[in-house]
Amino acid sequence: SSNAPSGTADNSKNAGSSAQTEKVYNVGSDASYAPFEYVNDKKQVVGFDVDVMNAIAKAEGFKVKYNNTAWDGIFLTLDQNTNDMLISAITITDQRKQKMDFSDPYFEATQMIAYKKGTNLTTLNALKGHTVAVQNGTTGDDIVSKAFGKANSDIKRFDAMPLALQELANGGVDAAVGDNGVVVNYVKNNGAGKFDTAVDPNFPKENYGIAVKKGNTALLNKINDGIKKIKSDGELDKIYEKWFGK
Ligand code: ARG
Repeated sequence: SSNAPSGTADNSKNAGSSAQTEKVYNVGSDASYAPFEYVNDKKQVVGFDVDVMNAIAKAEGFKVKYNNTAWDGIFLTLDQNTNDMLISAITITDQRKQKMDFSDPYFEATQMIAYKKGTNLTTLNALKGHTVAVQNGTTGDDIVSKAFGKANSDIKRFDAMPLALQELANGGVDAAVGDNGVVVNYVKNNGAGKFDTAVDPNFPKENYGIAVKKGNTALLNKINDGIKKIKSDGELDKIYEKWFGK
């Protein structure tokens, strides 16, 4: 490390690390979304997305710092420059693409319904006339809003997904709709025997991407390059196995 020219700001900040200074990017994530991102007992942000991001950073030679960022307003943090990128189980949508840029997909998902055992609320149609909890501003919210009408009071919107699922557990709603990985994880850990889950055959396939500020092509290219590497060297498969393998 003493090979680096002394007296530069970067050198002093990275004293003791490698001679080549690595850039530290701020990564925003709504860490209430197990198993994709959540805070463990050691108060660290961990999960599938965190492992993916760390692997990309390693492959591309940059460092990351995770900022637990509320979902409500998370996209604005790119323009506010408080986050350089977002990894938060974010579905790539045409609407969002107008406001920010997305990496290539790194994960495939779909919406899933959780409902009280025996109630058979397995499709959007069956859900009509029933109360449904969603996380505000998510693709789950979109899908139910479109089917029910946005202002329908049967839709109960929560700022975080655990609150929506908790409402189902409390009996405050008949069902909850959210990303399949999160719903499956919740039912497994909290609702075994109490809830059933279903994917409406009409629910579209969704792809998760990493978001950057619109026009930040330099960073986007690095991220996409990293994604390509971890897809081809098997690292992404390993991470998938770790979090979703039986
Ligand atoms: N995939 C869904 C969407 O993009 C939900 C993502 C919510 N993520 C989170 N970390 N709370 O709308």
